[in-house]
Amino acid sequence: MQGTSEPNNVLADLPVVLETSSAPLVRALKSTAEQDVACFHFPGHNRGKATPILYNLTGPGAFLHDLPDLPELHDLFSPKGAILDGQAEAAKLFGASETWFLVGGTTCGIQASIMATCCPVDALILPRNDHISATSGLVWSGAVPKYILPEYNSCWDIAAGIRPSQVEAAIKELEEVGKTAAAVLITSPTYHGLCSNLNEITKVCHSRCIPVIVDEAHGAHFRFHPNFPSTALEQGADLAVQSTHKVLSSLTQSSMLHVWEPYRYGENKKMRSNAAEHQPKLPITCIIRFNDSARAQLGENPDAIFCDAVNLSLETRKEIGTTRGVSLLDLSSFLSGFTAIDPLRITLGVSQLHISSYMTDEVSWEGHRIMPELVGSSSLTFTINLGTTRKDIQRLILGVKNLSRNFLMKTK
Ligand SMILES: Cc1ncc(COP(=O)(O)O)c(C=O)c1O
Repeated sequence: MQGTSEPNNVLADLPVVLETSSAPLVRALKSTAEQDVACFHFPGHNRGKATPILYNLTGPGAFLHDLPDLPELHDLFSPKGAILDGQAEAAKLFGASETWFLVGGTTCGIQASIMATCCPVDALILPRNDHISATSGLVWSGAVPKYILPEYNSCWDIAAGIRPSQVEAAIKELEEVGKTAAAVLITSPTYHGLCSNLNEITKVCHSRCIPVIVDEAHGAHFRFHPNFPSTALEQGADLAVQSTHKVLSSLTQSSMLHVWEPYRYGENKKMRSNAAEHQPKLPITCIIRFNDSARAQLGENPDAIFCDAVNLSLETRKEIGTTRGVSLLDLSSFLSGFTAIDPLRITLGVSQLHISSYMTDEVSWEGHRIMPELVGSSSLTFTINLGTTRKDIQRLILGVKNLSRNFLMKTK
């Protein structure tokens, strides 16, 4: 290894948080990585020794903790020990009866949930703008879609959620042709943070013994501040899949699949095997570990961890909301029936400035180095998270005010 100390010595420099971490998987990986061992196993980077360039670029941590299913670490197919403990801790914190760590994102959790609830030719009720993972779940399971059209606001070019009455109508239409829905899949919140009334939807479905799967990819933080919408599980969902990597502080691809017990309409065994089968046999332990450490970070201070982020977001909304020529997406942008909007998701409309959202994006980047999460045809969406600083939001507010000053004048 050129220009670096031996990988195992470098571990001494890792932050204390790993030392004292309450994350079982983090502890197990750390202790395995510290072993003095001659490695003759996969992965071929050999704990970083085979790739000095990347090792120097990323540092040792990524490599030392990227370990295969060694006996003490177990595997995601039949989790025991540290993985099982980490998942149990997550289930407790997120209010689930059982939780699986996913390394293929919410994508693989949606696919697994559909496979676990639907057999070939079964009907699955879902929104027409579902995530592409639901489409592959349909193909693999052989289930037939019964689509619901979400409300669409053409000024914003944004779709909202699904109303309980739409779910009920879809169930009845199936019943009229002698069919029963095998499951209902709802995306809540949407990418723009809009939440459907899951309380009512689950009531409608459960009265007919239909399980509800919620694509909660964008709502993994909802349990951790009173200003956030209620979680899918709190509202009665049977299965909820959350991207730990979207708003929580985890690595891309890490997600969690939560199940509420009693899982009334199927066997956990089926769910368990699907959650395993839709993941790589040898996943990147680093990604699983990040699920565990994100959970531990939340668990240390669940009631207060998002306070700063929420306050920063309120401040941003207030400032931007009074800026001439720009508008903020909120519940009033839709007819009715949507229960909440994620306060950490800020969607900005600039049509009154008579510049396109793409142009806005370019100008904000050139002038202020601001990078949004999403640029739509009529809007830009910014996400606030645990890493957002006051300096970041001041820059965003200044950028928006400058846009207003420069472009509102020109349109007069
Ligand atoms: C609504 C929705 N569901 C599911 C996914 C997939 O999530 P992941 O990237 O964790 O696989 C996304 C990704 O952006 C999404 O927007």
